[in-house]
Amino acid sequence: MAIISSKKQPQEPEQPQRRVSASAHKSPQAPPAQNLLQPQAAADELLKQEENIRPQRFADYIGQKDLKEVLDIAIKAAKVRGETLDHLLLYGPPGLGKTTMSLILATEMGVDCKITSAPALERPRDIVGLLMSLKPGEVLFIDEIHRLSRMSEEILYPAMEDYRVDITIGKGSSAKTRSLQLPRFTLVGATTRMGALSSPLRDRFGLIQRLRFYEPDELSQIVLRTAQLLQTTITDDGTEEIARRSRGTPRIANRLLKRVRDYAQVKAAGPITQSLAAEALQLFQVDPCGLDWTDRRMLSVMIEQFNGGPVGLETMAAVTGEDTQTIEEVYEPYLMQISYLHRTPRGRVATPAAYKHLGYTLPNEQLSLLP
Ligand SMILES: Nc1ncnc2c1ncn2[C@@H]1O[C@H](COP(=O)(O)OP(=O)(O)O)[C@@H](O)[C@H]1O
Ligand SMILES: [Mg+2]
Repeated sequence: MAIISSKKQPQEPEQPQRRVSASAHKSPQAPPAQNLLQPQAAADELLKQEENIRPQRFADYIGQKDLKEVLDIAIKAAKVRGETLDHLLLYGPPGLGKTTMSLILATEMGVDCKITSAPALERPRDIVGLLMSLKPGEVLFIDEIHRLSRMSEEILYPAMEDYRVDITIGKGSSAKTRSLQLPRFTLVGATTRMGALSSPLRDRFGLIQRLRFYEPDELSQIVLRTAQLLQTTITDDGTEEIARRSRGTPRIANRLLKRVRDYAQVKAAGPITQSLAAEALQLFQVDPCGLDWTDRRMLSVMIEQFNGGPVGLETMAAVTGEDTQTIEEVYEPYLMQISYLHRTPRGRVATPAAYKHLGYTLPNEQLSLLP
């Protein structure tokens, strides 16, 4: 008896606690634990198997018409002249295809692409080593290039301009600087924060291109292409349903397709239809417009507590628990793209479309302000 009760006792206080935390997760105030709508790559999306769905050639890269036109000309001209491509800077929100485009450029030029990211190049010797390992014509892709340290950046300048690395040998008064010649190469830099790039670095890129959010029909094509690669059948309206909820971002579109595919496999035999996609995505708490908890929270606080705005960036950060940078670079661009939010000099304003989507009625004063 004594043994049984001593085993039971420690469990008892645990159980109510567990129940409390489980119900807290269900509350509409709490963000979901797993966020399918984050545009940054999840750990499993960085794995090799993801490479199967990444477009390999120019022709497979859907959308971004302007970018493709500019790069197509640059590639053809470089090939005709037998030269390397100009250094290229790609900027835009995460998940829109910057890394993919860099790999495609290398393939189209028939060269290899070395991939790294600025935080991995913190010490000068990391970047020197990398530059010295480049072979003629190769593409060097540096992700998050706005995060390069000052010293690494300074090593990059002569490398970009004159294909030269200056290294210091020895210490103190006996130190000597030697210049080493590098083969010609193409630097492709990617950043989500164009404004954070130093101007000397920016000025050394021959081509600077912005990536845009994808249109729904482009996202539908991406979903269809991925579905074919995954050998999943999907109807046209099924692709449209997933596309609509993907925040204009291919990475999210592919991720949602995979979740819907799992759902379809378990629930129904047959193709992914619109109703099946909608049902699955509702279960995963993906809003019909692709809004997530943070977007909805930002908009509803603006509407409920500030009469639609203007609201300062700091306030938005405080109510969502996100930092101001993430709000500016990840959340706001999409909300502005779908015209749910405007940036004004006095702060952020929720638009009538946002009121409607979240089920609020527009206050009369707000109506009279509209054109
Ligand atoms: N234009 C595109 N066409 C088809 N798929 C794309 C396109 N752009 C991106 N993708 C898909 O989205 C994923 C994320 O793209 P990625 O290049 O890694 O984004 P970024 O580097 O801008 O964060 C890729 O794995 C790829 O499958
Ligand atoms: Mg990337």
